[in-house]
Amino acid sequence: MKLFLDTANLAQIKKLNQMGVVDGVTTNPTLIAKEPGEFEEIVRAICREVKGDVSAEVVATDSDGMVAEGKRLSTIAPNVVVKVPMIPEGLRATKSLSVAGIRVNVTLVFSANQGLLAAKAGASFVSPFIGRLDDIGQRGMELVEDLVKIRDNYRLKAEVLVGSIRHPQHVLEAAKVGADIATMPPEVMEKMMHHPLTDAGLKRFLDDWEKAKKTRASGAV
Ligand code: E4P
Repeated sequence: MKLFLDTANLAQIKKLNQMGVVDGVTTNPTLIAKEPGEFEEIVRAICREVKGDVSAEVVATDSDGMVAEGKRLSTIAPNVVVKVPMIPEGLRATKSLSVAGIRVNVTLVFSANQGLLAAKAGASFVSPFIGRLDDIGQRGMELVEDLVKIRDNYRLKAEVLVGSIRHPQHVLEAAKVGADIATMPPEVMEKMMHHPLTDAGLKRFLDDWEKAKKTRASGAV
């Protein structure tokens, strides 16, 4: 499974990328708005840092506008993926952009039917937002299960990119049901690294080592 970071913060991306665990990055207008600097410059810097796919979202809501923005974004770097919202105009834009050879990530997917349509329109990635579904009392992971099944039934080329991840359990469940990618805030990836027994185990190893060194130095062994 590929692990993406859902952030536009270059420092956090660099830190985790150095560990070799970052396959790509997703951004959205909310995440970009949190960072200083110009939109395209931020995306360019992320694309230089991360070799994998970097999603950058259009803000137009009409298909011609989305296509124009998408074409411009795609010139920033070869690893840019154009993110388009799952609205009827977004499907039209997805079709045009994919026919032009530009990879599209259809975002804000909240139902399996929306995902099926996005894949059919030519999306390379379909992004279900599971945390936001959980927030309104629905089971976000059920949507991921449905999309994975549909992808497999028809051998669709669209990858299931699980977004709106809130905790490590979401990542684990997405991996178990066969999602292609999980995109998560840096804090979630940090949490995935830790376990209290790892810390306690390491402390015991180091304490025992120190004790043994002292005993040996005193000539008791
Ligand atoms: C995915 O591509 C989106 O950027 C993201 O996962 C949205 O998550 P949120 O619900 O935490 O805003």
